[in-house]
Amino acid sequence: MSMWWFITTLAITAFISYFPASAYDNNPLQDICVAVNDSQAAVFVNGKICKDPKLATANDFYFSGLNVSGNVVPGLGFASTRVDVNNMPGLNTLGMFVGRTDLEPQRLAQFHTHPRATELITVLEGTLYTGFLVPDAANFFKSRLFSKIINPGDVFVFPKGLIHFQYNMGNKKATYLSFFNSQNPGFVIIPNSIFASNPPISDDILAKGFQLNKTDIALLRKKFS
Ligand SMILES: *[C@@H]1O[C@H](CO)[C@@H](O)[C@H](O)[C@H]1NC(C)=O
Ligand SMILES: *[C@@H]1O[C@H](CO)[C@@H](O)[C@H](O)[C@H]1NC(C)=O
Ligand SMILES: *[C@@H]1O[C@H](CO)[C@@H](O)[C@H](O)[C@H]1NC(C)=O
Repeated sequence: MSMWWFITTLAITAFISYFPASAYDNNPLQDICVAVNDSQAAVFVNGKICKDPKLATANDFYFSGLNVSGNVVPGLGFASTRVDVNNMPGLNTLGMFVGRTDLEPQRLAQFHTHPRATELITVLEGTLYTGFLVPDAANFFKSRLFSKIINPGDVFVFPKGLIHFQYNMGNKKATYLSFFNSQNPGFVIIPNSIFASNPPISDDILAKGFQLNKTDIALLRKKFS
C-alpha cells in the first residue's frame, strides 16, 4: 500500500510539474543538437532541427566578434550583438544566449523585460546606472526599485520577467555583456510594445491607460514608432 502511494504521488508530481516546466527551456535531451536551417524538416527542437551529431564540428560551438561593437541604432546611441542559435548553432537546446551591448554616453537601454530569462550583466567598459522593478507585494499599485551604479568587473542580475534598464551615466562609451538562461529570452521593449503595436491600440484607450490627452498620446506614438 505504501509503495502504491509512493508511486502514485510520484506520478502525480511528475504530471503536475510537467506543465509549468514546458514553459521553460528544458534540459537537453541529448549531448548536442546543432541547429540546421531547414524549413522542410518535420522534427523541430526549440524551433530548429538537429544536425546529425556525426556531422557537427567545433565551429558549430564557436563565435567570434564580441570584441567589437555592433552597429549603433541611429538616434538611440545603442548597439547590440546577439550570439544565439542563428549565428552559433551549437547553442541549440542548451538554454543559453549571450549578447554585447554598447551605449553611447547618456544613452539608455530602454525599459524592457525578457519573459523567459533571467539576465546577468557584467561591465567591460564605462559606468552604468541600472536597475529593475519588483512588484510591491504589500501595495498592488507600487513597485520597488533595485538599482546600482556599476563599473568594469561588476555584475548585476535582472530576475526573469522583471522590467529593467541600463543607463550610461558616464562621459565615454559603456560596454557590457549580457548572459541569459534561455535560448530565446524574448525582448519586450515596454514603450514600443505599447505605442507602436500593429494594429495600434486606440488613442482613447491609451489616453485612459496613461491619464493623458490625445495630443500627448499622438506625440508618444510618434516617438516610439
Ligand atoms: C576581434 O577579433 C577578431 C577575431 O579574433 C580579430 O580578427 C579582430 O582583429 C578583432 N578586432 C579587434 C578590433 O580587436
Ligand atoms: C539561419 O536562419 C537565420 C534566420 O533566418 C539566419 O539569420 C541565419 O543567418 C541562418 N544561419 C545559417 C548558419 O545559415
Ligand atoms: C494635453 O495635455 C498637455 C499636458 O500633458 C497640455 O499641455 C495640453 O495643452 C493638452 N492638450 C489638449 C488639447 O488638451
